[in-house]
Amino acid sequence: MDVKQFIYDNVAMIRETVGSGKAINALSGGVDSSVVTALGHKAIGDQLETVFLDDGLMREKEPETVAATFEPLGIRVKIVDLKDRFFSALKGIEDPEDKRKAFRDTFYSSFGDIVKESGASYLLQGTIKPDIIETTKGVKTQHNILEQIGIDPEAGYGFKVIEPLIDLFKPGVRQVATELGLPESVSQRMPFPGPGLATRCLGEANPERIEIVRKAVKIVEEETEGITAFQCFAVLLKDRATGMKADGSREFGHIIVVRCVESEDAMTAQPVHLQWDVLRKLEKRIAGEIDEVSRVLYDLTPKPPATIEYI
Ligand code: XMP
Repeated sequence: MDVKQFIYDNVAMIRETVGSGKAINALSGGVDSSVVTALGHKAIGDQLETVFLDDGLMREKEPETVAATFEPLGIRVKIVDLKDRFFSALKGIEDPEDKRKAFRDTFYSSFGDIVKESGASYLLQGTIKPDIIETTKGVKTQHNILEQIGIDPEAGYGFKVIEPLIDLFKPGVRQVATELGLPESVSQRMPFPGPGLATRCLGEANPERIEIVRKAVKIVEEETEGITAFQCFAVLLKDRATGMKADGSREFGHIIVVRCVESEDAMTAQPVHLQWDVLRKLEKRIAGEIDEVSRVLYDLTPKPPATIEYI
């Protein structure tokens, strides 16, 4: 790919499509939405409003970190607190696809409201090729796929969607991020799914369970920093297992799975051969620092037959 040409063409496309109107985009802090944010601001400057939807399903301190990353680039990020709206939409839902659909519908209806308020008629979105392939193949409902499966965003939610990254895979997005001058902490960041920690928690995604997995994800990210991997994270299982507290009393505790994979483009993946001392440290910290957890597992499954995330 000629990265400079890609940027030139897409800046022109966004300018032409939006014209003198207004666009809005959702920035999650991941590389795809970060690239779209930088590309959009390069194309239309302040005609683009960048919003961070705080759905309560993000990693620790994500809203503050994202705003602080984009401020030096002259891009203001408006943080909108939607935690209650998302948690009530997800309440009681355990089925993985129902959860993804509830997330997607809440995501777009919230955005519909924000877009209406802002007067924008376009939503700039960082959908990439694997998102479409997986949704159209029926593997899972990615949160950002609408038109490709016959949902008209204008009729349903009141805006048109612009998707400049639609033909790219992750390595291409990273190249564009670097060319746009985004810091390495963004361009090389591990992918994080749109429905956030809801994909890393089997069963109901309620505030208490999300908090457990948030702590575990943070520990995994800290302990695997510097390890070559496409993604390293933690997942909270729905079941519990019998365990023992330090004083010898019985505990029916939560189970955390550590997942660490190598991948080129997320279409296939291999488990990373983590060293024993890293695995032991992960167990020690996760079971030691998170009271509710009494068992830690490491996932050895490639994609296929598994997928990278758990729902
Ligand atoms: P799977 O779990 O399908 O994940 O093997 C492939 C890649 O996509 C990420 N992922 C998502 N990204 N919205 C996203 O933006 C989603 O709904 C979603 N689900 C999975 C996942 O983290 C991996 O990098």
